Amino acid sequence: MSRSPSPDTVLNAPLVSSSLAPPRDIKSAGTTRIDFDGLLREPLLLKEDLKNGCGGQLWPAGMVLSKYMLSRHATDMAGKTIVELGAGGGLVGLAVARGCEIGLPLHITDQIPMFDLMKDNIALNQLDSTVVASVLDWGEPIPSHVPSKPDVILAADCVYFEPAFPLLITTLQDLLGPNSVCYFCYKRRRRADLRFMKMAKKAFDVQEVRDDPHAAEYSRESLYMYTIRVKPTKQPATSKQIPATKETTLLVTEVEK
Ligand SMILES: C[S@@+](CC[C@H](N)C(=O)[O-])C[C@H]1O[C@@H](n2cnc3c(N)ncnc32)[C@H](O)[C@@H]1O
Repeated sequence: MSRSPSPDTVLNAPLVSSSLAPPRDIKSAGTTRIDFDGLLREPLLLKEDLKNGCGGQLWPAGMVLSKYMLSRHATDMAGKTIVELGAGGGLVGLAVARGCEIGLPLHITDQIPMFDLMKDNIALNQLDSTVVASVLDWGEPIPSHVPSKPDVILAADCVYFEPAFPLLITTLQDLLGPNSVCYFCYKRRRRADLRFMKMAKKAFDVQEVRDDPHAAEYSRESLYMYTIRVKPTKQPATSKQIPATKETTLLVTEVEK
């Protein structure tokens, strides 16, 4: 699929407040140092360059999701397979790789035009041994080297271009396994963005993230964070009808072992 336009192009609207992301009107290429209000002891260096697309700069939902992961999930990512979608320059994935305990390589993904920027930012932060950049176009098959049912999916500011909504839903369907969770942060810029959440709620189990102490603050800027999981499967009605006897209890215990 061809490259999606930027949220600004689509919306022709002013960007969110600079409290969440540095000001970036007509931003020229450069490198930003970022420690997420002290959450990172060693700051990240992020090369920003808009020449290849909107992912070449920092976006507010990426800042919010990075801070949330660093403050709430610093220690429970160890040993988990992690894939970031629409990573842009890799802000969220790189923040997690630097500030959270991770054991396995973390995959940051985007469309072809963002590939070099992702690679540059991995190298700039000397995270070559822990972060892998890949091309993953929503709606296309998942590349074989990207974990197909990762434990954790990260997605920030990926809702802004309506034609891409069903493609993103397809990719989430492909990636989400029974034990996967997607941390999904987006900025609602217009009513149409609600359509994406409606589609997501139909396809998945979508829950608002409630353990972020800054949620009230960023919801005032129309930023929202959710977890997305596969819907729990309904128990077949017949299994409920089997009366529990000593034998069936023993059988279930055996199977569970
Ligand atoms: C607004 S930027 C957000 C970048 C980054 N996640 C952040 O928060 O800073 C949206 C990103 O989604 C990517 N994107 C848009 N459509 C896509 C598609 N069909 N497949 C893969 N990535 C896509 C863009 O290339 C861009 O990097």
